[in-house]
Amino acid sequence: MPIQLFRAENFRCLESVEFEADRQFNLIYGANASGKTSLLEALAYLGRGKSFRSAPTASLIRHGEGSFTLFGKAENGGRLRSIGVGNSSEGLEIRVDGEAGLGSAALAEALPLQVIDPEVHSLVSGGPEGRRRYLDWIAFHVEHEFLGLWRQFRRALKQRNAALRDGGRGLAAWDTEFVSLGEKVDRVRRSILDLCTSSLEEQGEALLGAPVGFEYRSGWTEGKSLAEAIADARERDLTQGATGAGPHRADIRLVYDDRQARRLVSRGQQKLLASSMILGATEVVQSALERPLMLLLDDPAAELDQDSLSRLLLQVFALGSQVIATALEPNVLEFPESPATFHVEHGRLTRV
Ligand SMILES: Nc1ncnc2c1ncn2[C@@H]1O[C@H](COP(=O)(O)OP(=O)(O)OP(=O)(O)O)[C@@H](O)[C@H]1O
Ligand SMILES: [Mg+2]
Repeated sequence: MPIQLFRAENFRCLESVEFEADRQFNLIYGANASGKTSLLEALAYLGRGKSFRSAPTASLIRHGEGSFTLFGKAENGGRLRSIGVGNSSEGLEIRVDGEAGLGSAALAEALPLQVIDPEVHSLVSGGPEGRRRYLDWIAFHVEHEFLGLWRQFRRALKQRNAALRDGGRGLAAWDTEFVSLGEKVDRVRRSILDLCTSSLEEQGEALLGAPVGFEYRSGWTEGKSLAEAIADARERDLTQGATGAGPHRADIRLVYDDRQARRLVSRGQQKLLASSMILGATEVVQSALERPLMLLLDDPAAELDQDSLSRLLLQVFALGSQVIATALEPNVLEFPESPATFHVEHGRLTRV
């Protein structure tokens, strides 16, 4: 089971909560502003070292306090791991199994998770950055060398941009580095999207009832090599002092029902399409890691009709992930068997 025991102190409205999770089904219900999202956000923070709402970390500290602490015991490859995250004026302190001073990659490895919340539609309707991050999350878990490769690429991009701003001094050397690393990043991403395609198509069709297509866009002109693309754009790059083409501009093009999805589908359909992407990614990563992930569903009923909600839950439960879901009332979400149920009120959690 991904998370067994969880504690949060002074995180948003949560003064001090302890939560013993069920290995599969967990329901947290409570009125508006009771603390449901705060609890899921705290759980997600433990696995990511950042907020899923992209809220600045300082705003997550409970008003009037100086720091928050999060602690969890998570099962990972047959052993129980202790994970701790604390925030103070000195910054973020991450500990896994007593080892201090770690980065957020250690959290992602110890507690892999995905989130479907009322903002999930932005994966479809928002800009390409969210979709790149989505794909890179899968790559991080499936291809062990991806994180190192990505960091090297980012460094080469930064250096190339610095050379462009310096009137092109030393540009040729950075071009070579940028192209070589950029093409590697591109190859990994393409192979990851290929690996995910059948899961994504299945999830998409199950949730939307029509075929959904996912195509990788490399971030430079189709049919050209990266070297050709940056040579073509050299003058413009020099004027702008920034590299206009490359994997940092990549995207996933979504096609639903012959329409380019992000512009032409309704909010509810965007939510279903984005959820199908989350579920497909969860399925692929679970199978690569050979263990279930923690799947956080914040108010899944929002914006969905009863039929769509049922289809979403059916797909969610079929994954065998550890599900932690929130709702306004205890009977809104139908679980396959009765979940561990918690009531939240004024930031306090009670097992029902
Ligand atoms: N840093 C903070 N310190 C104290 N309280 C906070 C902090 N950040 C947010 N809150 C408050 O926590 C309360 C609970 O918010 P939360 O988003 O968890 O509610 P919720 O149960 O998810 O509500 P909804 O059903 O409307 O989604 C809100 O009243 C919010 O203003
Ligand atoms: Mg909420």
